[in-house]
Amino acid sequence: MEIIKVNLGARSYPIYTGAGILQNLGGYMRDLPVGKNVLVITNPTVRHLYCRIVEESLAEAGYCVTVGEIGDGEEFKTLNTAKSLYDLAFDSGIDRSSPVIALGGGVVGDTAGFVAATYLRGVPFIQVPTTLLAQVDSSVGGKVAVNHPRGKNIIGVFYQPRLVLADVSLLKTLPPRELRSGLAEVIKYGVIWSEEFFTWLEGKTGLLLACETDALTRVVRESCRIKANVVEEDETEGGLRAILNYGHTFGHAVEALTGYKKYTHGEAVGIGLVVAARLAESLGFLAAADCTRIESLVSRAGLPREIPENLTPKDIVGCFYHDKKTVGGRLTFILPGRIGKVDIIRDLEEHLILDLLRKTRGQLEEDKGMGQF
Ligand SMILES: NC(=O)c1ccc[n+]([C@@H]2O[C@H](COP(=O)([O-])OP(=O)(O)OC[C@H]3O[C@@H](n4cnc5c(N)ncnc54)[C@H](O)[C@@H]3O)[C@@H](O)[C@H]2O)c1
Repeated sequence: MEIIKVNLGARSYPIYTGAGILQNLGGYMRDLPVGKNVLVITNPTVRHLYCRIVEESLAEAGYCVTVGEIGDGEEFKTLNTAKSLYDLAFDSGIDRSSPVIALGGGVVGDTAGFVAATYLRGVPFIQVPTTLLAQVDSSVGGKVAVNHPRGKNIIGVFYQPRLVLADVSLLKTLPPRELRSGLAEVIKYGVIWSEEFFTWLEGKTGLLLACETDALTRVVRESCRIKANVVEEDETEGGLRAILNYGHTFGHAVEALTGYKKYTHGEAVGIGLVVAARLAESLGFLAAADCTRIESLVSRAGLPREIPENLTPKDIVGCFYHDKKTVGGRLTFILPGRIGKVDIIRDLEEHLILDLLRKTRGQLEEDKGMGQF
């Protein structure tokens, strides 16, 4: 087991990482000044797989546990679900000292975190992420939210957990598609922060896709360290933290335009990483060889890299104006200058993006045409 610390003054917290550590949850919580009444929030899939281990560990450490279940899927990340959890918290006597524990992927983590942040103006929150995406990204950094019918993550706050426990052995039961989706965020860390990590990923993709424990452990630790570094510098996205959005502006557009059904979040981010790299290359920021390395790694991780043909460049660009990151109609992009370093580019002119999207589309159609002969 290794602890990674997120240093945020009074809101600092440890991330416990390793394989086979879920059964120690109750023990790790002993150092926290929290009450003995605990609300565990999970979904039916994860409850069936891992809730017993959590309940036994908490009972052994003297906690009294209530388990609350939410539906499995993005469509349950809503205020209605939050309301049913407030009812359960009330009925089970949750008070200001009682921890809420999220046991699940990003959907459970975001929803349970939102409930913890708002019930009684905030109760202690603990993240036990069970997907790769949640272990490397959503459980760390304190963004919690539910969706609004008009947009994803529209209703939310920054609320840091008191403790995160990321047990990579839980990833063995993850559907392969979900594992691949998590890798998109991992590749993102390589591009925005560390060429050494990116190069290591290039050599280990096969092991990661095969769920090899040591490789996954390194991925989770390195990703959490990078995310912790960024969040420590800028907790509430006033500046540097925006670099974590590399790939996400194009990704969110693809997700929104396909009704959040065709792609997982990670798959859409995979497309976004590639398209943003191509934009950087077309603007002369990124060397062609680095762009090719990013495209190849995304492909090797089994992620899509092209915007679906039925989405027009105008549709994509139209979406940017509804993106939370677009302020005052100014288009801001996170673009790599080389692998391991990105820049925040503000006020990018719309026609530059349209040109790139049209050129890529033309190129793909040309390639297809050639393939027919
Ligand atoms: N808060 C943040 O900073 C942040 C960052 C990125 C993404 N997100 C949010 O995260 C959500 C996506 O999270 P996700 O990709 O974890 O999806 P998810 O929570 O929907 O989980 C994916 C699927 O895997 C199943 N599952 C979870 N753990 C499992 C396990 N160990 N074994 C088998 N099955 C398991 C789940 O039941 C679900 O069906 C989105 O709502 C996104 O907006 C939040």
